[in-house]
Amino acid sequence: MFILAAAGSAVGLGNIWKFPYMAGENGGGAFILVYLACIFLIGIPIMMAEVLMGRETRQSPINTMRQLVKLSGASPAWTMIGWMGVAAGFLILSFYGVIAGWSLYYLFEVSAGTFQGTTGEAASAAFDGLLADPLLMIGLQTAFMAVTIFIVARGVSGGLELAIRWFMPLLLLLLLVLLGYSLTSGGLAEGLDFMFSFHPERLGVEGVLDAMGQAFFTLSLGMGAIMAYGAYVPSNASITSTIFTIALLDTFVAVAAGLVIFPLVFANGLNPAEGPGLMFVTLPLAFGQMPFGAIFGGVFFLLVSFAALTSAISLTEPALAWLVEDYNAKRGRVAVTLGVISWALGLGTVFSFNIWADVQIFFGKNFFDTVDFLANNTLLPLGGMLIALFVGWVLPKSTVVGQLGFDGGRYALWQVLSRFVAPAGVLVVFVYTVISTV
Ligand code: TRP
Repeated sequence: MFILAAAGSAVGLGNIWKFPYMAGENGGGAFILVYLACIFLIGIPIMMAEVLMGRETRQSPINTMRQLVKLSGASPAWTMIGWMGVAAGFLILSFYGVIAGWSLYYLFEVSAGTFQGTTGEAASAAFDGLLADPLLMIGLQTAFMAVTIFIVARGVSGGLELAIRWFMPLLLLLLLVLLGYSLTSGGLAEGLDFMFSFHPERLGVEGVLDAMGQAFFTLSLGMGAIMAYGAYVPSNASITSTIFTIALLDTFVAVAAGLVIFPLVFANGLNPAEGPGLMFVTLPLAFGQMPFGAIFGGVFFLLVSFAALTSAISLTEPALAWLVEDYNAKRGRVAVTLGVISWALGLGTVFSFNIWADVQIFFGKNFFDTVDFLANNTLLPLGGMLIALFVGWVLPKSTVVGQLGFDGGRYALWQVLSRFVAPAGVLVVFVYTVISTV
């Protein structure tokens, strides 16, 4: 159940929507290499740290931090990790609901056959039309958030398990179908070259920061979501092997989405650096041209919407679990309150694509880019770094060894990763960015 829930949290819009567009904006191959290094050297150790902390206390992230601080006699300032996570959850959920709304739109339009026989230009125009219509976007965002809140309010276990057991394999299957189509689209060689040949000159400084932010985002790290789920992991399960399974599955889905999208981009003369619209232009185009495209396409966007739903649910869990624990609050009421706050914040993201497109909030970034930067390039990496430092330096060794279930050489390796490699990796990327932007 934990593997399903954590995989449901990890696999989401980050894999199918965000990874390809970020790789596209940052020049492809070099970005992907840095991203993979971040997943394995930084992401996996931090994911293990989150699970072991959650399982040790079996409480919400905020109370986990409070209890572990007491256990280790450390400064209460460390509980900041829990608060930052709650804040990051609101920020991420706010824009997540908007993008998931786009996926609902394509679910309806593609299965209605709107894109049959479409061209690259028409598919781009359809996406631009969606972005130019704030009311439509708000309606879609509202629908997605309402379903999320409904499920969170009812308690996640039954529905989540069903969703993931069936939808995840189906999603993989459909990605393979799409892969078969894009392999024959004529853009394969260029697509592969773009994704896998190493062009460091195309990867700017921001690209390195983006790759790290994306590694945190795609694995749901740095805000306590995995810690909150970790509270439910049985004591006899191996943390290492479950985390590797989840990380490999997540990476596979992201790379497969890229392998689908980039050949289509080049075959149809589209721009790989198109930005957030990349998947929403290329895939409707592909479905519009293949036999039974309306059916395949409808199912595909349904699965993407489900993947987004299981991720959105996990974004509410740290705040929800804490409020239920400390104030004995009713799950339903808390779910609605959290949902309404995120929904309202999300309006800023909706307007960033139309009426507020030119309103700059922070260093030339509009509202959406600011929220994205704050959460993904700041709060998540910072939260992850603090988690690694806390587990590496503060938590007693006996606690860590007891949770991980290994000592000796493997423990030494783990300790090097959590004490030095993961925190230093995050720090170096931060400093590098600051120096180069000032
Ligand atoms: N990992 C999800 C995705 O790739 C998004 C997500 C869910 C998330 N929970 C999270 C990101 C917690 C950061 C933190 O779409």
